[in-house]
Amino acid sequence: KTLDSRSLESLAKYIKDGRAKRIVVMTGAGISTSAGIPDFRSPDTGLYANLQRLNLPYAEAVFDIDYFRKNPDPFYALAQELYPGSYRPTITHSFIKLLHDKGLLLKLFTQNIDCLEREAGVPDDKIIEAHGSFAKQSCIECKYPYPKDQMQQAIKDKSVPRCLNSECNGLVKPEIVFFGEQLPESFFRNRFLPEDSDLCIVMGTSLSVQPFASLPQACGESTPRLLINSEQVGSLGSRADDVLLLEDCDAGVRKLAEACGWLEELENTWSE
Ligand code: OAD
Repeated sequence: KTLDSRSLESLAKYIKDGRAKRIVVMTGAGISTSAGIPDFRSPDTGLYANLQRLNLPYAEAVFDIDYFRKNPDPFYALAQELYPGSYRPTITHSFIKLLHDKGLLLKLFTQNIDCLEREAGVPDDKIIEAHGSFAKQSCIECKYPYPKDQMQQAIKDKSVPRCLNSECNGLVKPEIVFFGEQLPESFFRNRFLPEDSDLCIVMGTSLSVQPFASLPQACGESTPRLLINSEQVGSLGSRADDVLLLEDCDAGVRKLAEACGWLEELENTWSE
C-alpha cells in the first residue's frame, strides 16, 4: 500500500481506490485559528506570546499543575477566553466530519479544548480529547466533582473555586489536561490505534507536546502520513510515503477534497 510518489495526486488516488478505510486524524490548535481562536505557539498571534499581563515566570506556567497549585489566579484570569463559546467550526473540522460520513474515520485525536469537532458533527465516540475539555470540572486534590453552573460562574467572575467536599478545600479546575497531569485514560487505551490505520492525517499542530507528539510514529511504516500545516513538524516528511502540504489547513483540505472529487460535498457539509 505504498505510494508511488510523495504527491497529493497519488494520495488522492490511494483514497479513491478505496485503500484508505481506516483513517486516523490528529489535530491541534492550527485547525481552529481560522475560526478566530489563537493557537499557542505562533510567534506573534499565539496565546503564549500574549500573556505578559499575567506576569508568569514562563508562558506555559498558566497550564502547569504545580504552578496552578501555588497560583491559580492567572489561569482563571484567562479561562473566560478559553471557554468554548460562539465559534463556528472551520471547513477543516467539516472535512473530518465528511470522512466520518463516508465511513472512513477510525479515530480523531485532538489536542483542542474548543469542542469544534463535536460542533461540526463528529460523534463523541470517534473523538479522543487528548488534552481533556471543559465538559467536566473537579478538585485537583480529591477529584470531587464540581457543578457545571458554578464553574461557569467562577470563570465569568474570574474567581477561583474550591472543593465542595468540606474536609478537602482543594482547588477546583476544569478537566483540561495541564502540564504535569496524566492524559485521560481514553488516550492511553487508543494510543496504538494508529498501528491499525491505513492513512494518517496530521493537521494544525506543532507536535511539541508529548505524548501526543508521538502518535504519528505509531503508524506502520507503510501507512501514508499526510501533514497539512503551515510548517513542517515532528518527523513528518522522514518516511517515503509522507505527504506534506505546508500551507493553511483550510486551503489544504480543500485541495485534498478536490483531488478526491469531494469538494462540493465538503463545501455543503460545511455550510449545513
Ligand atoms: P501550537 O500552537 O503549538 O501549534 C499550532 C501549529 O499549527 C503550528 O505549527 C502553526 O504553524 C500551525 N498553524 C496555525 N494556524 C494554521 C493554519 N490556519 N493552517 C495551518 N497551520 C496552522 O498548538 P498545538 O500543537 O495544538 O496543551 O499545541 C499543543 C498543546 O500545547 C495544546 O493542546 C496546549 C498547548 O500547551 C495544553 O494546554 C495542555
